[in-house]
Amino acid sequence: MIEIRNLSKIYKTKTGTVIGVDDVTLSIQEGEIYGIVGYSGAGKSSLLRCINLLERPTSGKISVNGTDLTSLKGENLRLARLKIGMIFQHFYLISQKTVFDNVAFALKAAKLPEAQIKSRVEELLEMVGLSDKRDVYPAQLSGGQKQRVAIARALANNPKVLLCDEATSALDPTTTMSILNLLKKINKELNITIVLITHEMKVVKEICNRMAIMQNGRVMEEGTVYEVFANPQTGLTKEFIESVVSFEIPEVILNKCDGPIVKVIFKGKVAGEGVISDTLQQFKVKGNFLHGSIEYIQELPLGIFIMELKGEKEEINNAIKYIENRAAQVEVLRNGL
Ligand SMILES: Nc1ncnc2c1ncn2[C@@H]1O[C@H](COP(=O)(O)OP(=O)(O)OP(=O)(O)O)[C@@H](O)[C@H]1O
Ligand SMILES: [Mg+2]
Repeated sequence: MIEIRNLSKIYKTKTGTVIGVDDVTLSIQEGEIYGIVGYSGAGKSSLLRCINLLERPTSGKISVNGTDLTSLKGENLRLARLKIGMIFQHFYLISQKTVFDNVAFALKAAKLPEAQIKSRVEELLEMVGLSDKRDVYPAQLSGGQKQRVAIARALANNPKVLLCDEATSALDPTTTMSILNLLKKINKELNITIVLITHEMKVVKEICNRMAIMQNGRVMEEGTVYEVFANPQTGLTKEFIESVVSFEIPEVILNKCDGPIVKVIFKGKVAGEGVISDTLQQFKVKGNFLHGSIEYIQELPLGIFIMELKGEKEEINNAIKYIENRAAQVEVLRNGL
């Protein structure tokens, strides 16, 4: 669907060159909600803007639906762009135009007849839940409502792809959820592929199927959101995950533990129920729970428990082997065996 090949974007400034995107290769499938996270300056917006050629890549290729966008120019590029909608953190509505006219603006650019424009705008406002605001001006809307108008406008020309640049970053948590739910609905009902960039891992956990983590213009890690949460490979990814699922245990508590401290991760169906209690019954081992949670990612449970194990070394080793055989991952965090 979206193929990004060896894409680089280097900005030339008065003081020298700045790397925005550094040799990124990614494939985004049709119908997917794909998340790109990273701290400020990681290159997320640069990458996203290259996808619709708002920014021309310095090198590399972008193809959307089999069309190599980097080879298009003029009218052909303009037409290809109509099939890629985009929304931003700061909405960018036209303040002198009503809600209706803001959405109609995108259709006028596509030179549609008046009657068709009217019915399409009404349909779009209905979909984003703003039919009653059609004649008001952006200044009279809340942030969430402004983003809904921007979404309606972005969908006006029936795009196949919607690019979202920090679309919920200016919104409070409840409004963020309502916009994320709207994006989910659009993805499902209209089968629009969504690429979403954000610095909030919570947003990715909420709606994305797959994700990438960027730093210094590069993709550091990539995969299904579930696997990234279950098996983070880099310190950067762990940091992002801990912003959503914190496993911090106070040092004073850790210092009171003398047995090995293990982290047990259960993936998928067997989110741990039964396995730990079975283990503690079968072996002469006592478990002292320090932390535990079951997260639901894309409706699949991911159970993570941290505990101190007390008992004979051999019994502890056997207990760990037993847990591992029951489809779990065990990581020794401290006081190794
Ligand atoms: N037009 C530009 N001219 C020069 N440098 C730029 C330009 N746009 C971005 N950069 C630089 O490219 C790098 C990546 O910036 P980018 O805006 O893509 O990051 P980001 O991940 O979107 O950050 P944020 O989360 O703050 O939006 C930064 O070092 C930035 O300073
Ligand atoms: Mg940005």
